[in-house]
Amino acid sequence: MAQFSLTAEQIQTNYKKFFERIDKMFPDRAEGLKEMYSALGEERLMFSPASSIDYYHNAIPGGYVDHVLRVMDFALLEYKHYEAMGLDVTGFTVQELMFAAMNHDLGKLGFVGDGKDGYIYNTSEWHRKNQGKIYDSNDNIPFTLTPDRSLFLLQSFRIPMSWNEYLGIRIHDGVYDDSNKAYYLTKQLKSKLRNTMPQILHNADLAAARFEFERWAKTTNQFNTAKLEDLKLKYISNEVKEVKTKSDKKVELGKNLATSFDEIFNV
Ligand SMILES: [Fe+2]
Repeated sequence: MAQFSLTAEQIQTNYKKFFERIDKMFPDRAEGLKEMYSALGEERLMFSPASSIDYYHNAIPGGYVDHVLRVMDFALLEYKHYEAMGLDVTGFTVQELMFAAMNHDLGKLGFVGDGKDGYIYNTSEWHRKNQGKIYDSNDNIPFTLTPDRSLFLLQSFRIPMSWNEYLGIRIHDGVYDDSNKAYYLTKQLKSKLRNTMPQILHNADLAAARFEFERWAKTTNQFNTAKLEDLKLKYISNEVKEVKTKSDKKVELGKNLATSFDEIFNV
């Protein structure tokens, strides 16, 4: 079965790009960010996946950095789409959006310390082959929601965040995470989100995950896209159905009754 993976060159290029972006986009916080990533470990950052199951997204070595860079790119595109659609993109800066995008999944890297990775390679070949469970969550660290671990790590290294950045990271999963409902599904005007940044980040993350799923699906041919096309064709049928009015139906009913009567009594 065909597998999808990033090449060694792609992993290296992404890793380099990741640090170039830190220097360029967050010069004031670059030192703290680099200290944090170095404490987590170069190897862990470079090779961590973005999820555990092959058909989720980027459950591959180097998947984490690849995903984060894509979310940053997509967030910028989404920002421009929002602007073009006439939505309000004030109330936050592009730098804040990029900071939240870069660190939205930080918690997936785990906690600082040997053996405290967020994901560990699944040693069960059966689960890898039959269920696509390439990685497993690490039971050597306590359970946390990813955003909580991301924010914990950032504050551990005294990396300051604005409220927009904090909230963007905290609720980037949108309403897929029930704990975000208070922010997104409020019934009160005063508790509405003050700007569109969390929504832009959420959309970018969803689109990036879908991109990565499709890339995996096309390479491995494990997702039957042809079947979906068939369903679509059936739905958009060119066949025009006759529209019957109430009186048409009455006439038809009368004819049917007459036919039945004739058949029974041989008229
Ligand atoms: Fe993500």
